[in-house]
Amino acid sequence: MKFSILNFTILTLLTSGALTQQTPKFKITRCRHSDMSAEELAESLAITQEFSDEADPPPNRLNRPIARETVNIKLFIHNVYSNKTKAGGYVSTDAINKQVKALNTGFKNTGFTFALQRISRTHSAEWALADMDKNAVEKKIVYKMWKTLRKGTYADLNLFLRPIPADVLGACNYPVNVKNRPTAVDRGVCDIHSATVPGSPGPYGQGKTTVHEVGHWLNLQHPFDGGCAKKYGGDGIRDTPAMKVSYGCKIGRDTCPDNPGKDAIHNYMSYSDDACLTEFTEGQITMMHKVWKKYRQPY
Ligand SMILES: *[C@@H]1O[C@H](CO)[C@@H](O)[C@H](O)[C@H]1NC(C)=O
Repeated sequence: MKFSILNFTILTLLTSGALTQQTPKFKITRCRHSDMSAEELAESLAITQEFSDEADPPPNRLNRPIARETVNIKLFIHNVYSNKTKAGGYVSTDAINKQVKALNTGFKNTGFTFALQRISRTHSAEWALADMDKNAVEKKIVYKMWKTLRKGTYADLNLFLRPIPADVLGACNYPVNVKNRPTAVDRGVCDIHSATVPGSPGPYGQGKTTVHEVGHWLNLQHPFDGGCAKKYGGDGIRDTPAMKVSYGCKIGRDTCPDNPGKDAIHNYMSYSDDACLTEFTEGQITMMHKVWKKYRQPY
C-alpha cells in the first residue's frame, strides 16, 4: 500500500475536556473517529474521566497482574471489497483467522477474548471505497453499510475490513451512552483497512491496527491526546506515560519530561509501527473493563 503525504486533522482532547483541532502533517494516520460529532466525542471523553481515578492503580500494583473477570466478546467480521484482489480489499479466510488470532494475542492477559461468530463478504465498490471523512453523502453510504451488515448488540464487536481510502488505517467510534443516542448501536463499529491484516507488507502489516482500534472501541484514548498535562494528560490514565505523537519506534524518546516515564511508544494506543506495539497498561485494562461493564455489556 502506498501512503502519500497529506494534511490530516487529528482530534485532540484538551485537559479542560473541551475539544479542539490541530493540523499536523503526517505520512499516514492510524485512525479516526470521524463519524462522531463533537458532542459525542465530548461524551466519550467524559466516560474516560468518569473512570480515570479507578483506572489509577496503586503504585505498588504497577506491572503486577490484577485478577480480572474474563469477558468473551462475540466478533463479527465483514469483508467489503471492490474486487477480488488485495488492492480491491478482498481478504482470504486464512488472513481473517490470523487477524482474529492477532487480536486475541494483543489482548492476552487483559481478560478480554474475541470469538469469531461469522464472516460476511460483500462485493460493493461503493461501500468498500466510501470515504467517511469526505462529505455527508459518503458518510451516509458508510452508515448504510454498517446498518445493513452489522450483527448482534452494542456489546458485540463488528469489524469491517475494507480498502478505506484517504490513507486511514482504521476508524472506530468510541462508546457513548446508547440510551440517549438511537443511531449509536449501528455506528458503534470499526472500519479496518484490509491491507493491515497479518501478512500485509510494510510497517502496519501485523494486524495490530485492529488491536489499537478495539482499544478505542472500549474507549481508550491515545497517549498523546491529552498532551503533557498532569491531570488527564496523555490518555487520562496515570500509568500510561503521556507523549507527543510519534511514528516508527523511537526508543528512549521522552517528549513529556515533566511526566513520569518515557514516551509510551510500545503502547498499543500509540502510533508506532506494528512491530513496536506490545502492551496495554494495567490502568488501560481496568478502564476497558469498567467501560465495557457500564456502556456496552447491558446493550
Ligand atoms: C481492484 O480495486 C482496486 C481498488 O479500487 C483497484 O485499484 C484495482 O485496479 C482493481 N483491480 C482490478 C483487477 O480490477
